[in-house]
Amino acid sequence: MAGPLTDQEDAFGHALYDHLHGRRGHEIIERNDGYIDIAASDMGRYFRSFPEWPAHERHVMRHLRGRVLDIGCGAGRVLLHAQAQGLEAVGVDISPLALEVCRRRGGTTLYQLGIADIDGKLGTFDTVVLMGNNFGLFGNARRAQRLLRRFHRWTSAEARIIAQVADPYRTDEPLHHAYHEANRERGRLAGQLRLRVRYKRYRTRWFDYLFVSQAELEQIVSGTGWRLVEVIESGGPSYDVVLEKV
Ligand SMILES: C[S@@+](CC[C@H](N)C(=O)[O-])C[C@H]1O[C@@H](n2cnc3c(N)ncnc32)[C@H](O)[C@@H]1O
Repeated sequence: MAGPLTDQEDAFGHALYDHLHGRRGHEIIERNDGYIDIAASDMGRYFRSFPEWPAHERHVMRHLRGRVLDIGCGAGRVLLHAQAQGLEAVGVDISPLALEVCRRRGGTTLYQLGIADIDGKLGTFDTVVLMGNNFGLFGNARRAQRLLRRFHRWTSAEARIIAQVADPYRTDEPLHHAYHEANRERGRLAGQLRLRVRYKRYRTRWFDYLFVSQAELEQIVSGTGWRLVEVIESGGPSYDVVLEKV
């Protein structure tokens, strides 16, 4: 990442912060072909406590154990759940305001770090969490492979990765299909999206966000020291996965 986020770039954090303070927040996504979507019309979903989560998310949390690293922890719903289970949980996020919101909600061990900046300095982890479609933070296939190999080094022998993945192909929107085709022509994976988050006058930097099918995921994971051991369908465009060491 090219330097820490400025306040002007902390669009997601501002939306969380407003929600925490009883003001309406929302999350708008802008794609680089000009397509605009509402990712969250209400930030409440990022604050829900465990019993309010969808069944597939509650189900995948059975794999949470040991020392937990929540990457892109946001307002901390998974981190707080792990803490409530008596687990030692560390949260990282690039958004200063997300971390502030998470801290105010009870998150104890938080660092402003990007997914690519995590190294052995945080110690060894038994569970790595990438929920809220955060598999997307890998950005592209090569970066995902590089980072998965790196994750291998600072995780225990029995470690697992719990990730939520968005499948780009579960759509009938012609503009998404056209975007996929344009990506393929440029040698990118169809679901390698170039996005930024907008809120009020705040906007993040442009970043790559990776949507993959299960077959693409298996291809990416192969040779990284991890293997897919479980897939839990959401009944919607995303699915949850558990990866373990080979
Ligand atoms: C969609 S939210 C998910 C929040 C949380 N995991 C959940 O499930 O409620 C994505 C989070 O990832 C953070 N994020 C974005 N890019 C990141 C990066 N490169 N490294 C770490 N966190 C990042 C955002 O600031 C945001 O808090």
